Amino acid sequence: MTQDELKQAVARSAIAYVEGDIIGVGTGSTANFFIDELAKIKDRFKGTVASSEATAARLRGHGIAVLDLNDVPEIAVYIDGADEINAAGAMIKGGGAALTREKIVASVSKKFVCIADGSKLVDTLGKFPLPVEVLPMACNAVARQLAALGGQPKLRLKAGTNEAFVTDNGGNILDVAGLSITDPVALEAQINQIVGVIAVGLFAARGANVCLLGTPEGVRTLT
Ligand code: 5RP
Repeated sequence: MTQDELKQAVARSAIAYVEGDIIGVGTGSTANFFIDELAKIKDRFKGTVASSEATAARLRGHGIAVLDLNDVPEIAVYIDGADEINAAGAMIKGGGAALTREKIVASVSKKFVCIADGSKLVDTLGKFPLPVEVLPMACNAVARQLAALGGQPKLRLKAGTNEAFVTDNGGNILDVAGLSITDPVALEAQINQIVGVIAVGLFAARGANVCLLGTPEGVRTLT
């Protein structure tokens, strides 16, 4: 099976976790497969809250309502991919640059269902460079502090250019390589304390409740 087929399989199996009137929807290629599956059952719920402009556009393209989080009192389930996940449900996210909105939508959702191909399961987080969204004026100041924590921060660039990538929120992204994250909750709290950080792509204090992993043997469920 290809990686896309594994992603498609977990996206399909995530439909069993859809509950409530409003669904929180993540960002990325696995989330895109999920959106395509969600479109098939769009008469079963009222609308969605999207974690990025790209996700909102794809949902609307399927005729699915996208609501403002400010108008939504409660989300039963948030479904999203990950760049890495460990057995405890802690994740690195933000490869698709949507980490801040993903974290916000996840924080108001009762259940986080992570959907990923099996290659994303790791013993120790950190091989995938940790994305940190920062206010543009604080990029270098934050980078110095991340280096002091033992990482090698690198400013994410717009593909094919020398310009800084700009997120949906007007922020920039520092991708921090070289971290072996043995205590994800502590590191998340530590990076959150750095002035100028908008959000860190460590989802540990609020990790996934369920993880659906696509493997050649079928979809594996971690709870
Ligand atoms: C976007 C994310 C994605 O969930 C993560 O990058 C995984 O993406 P994909 O499903 O394409 O492998 O955090 O900000």
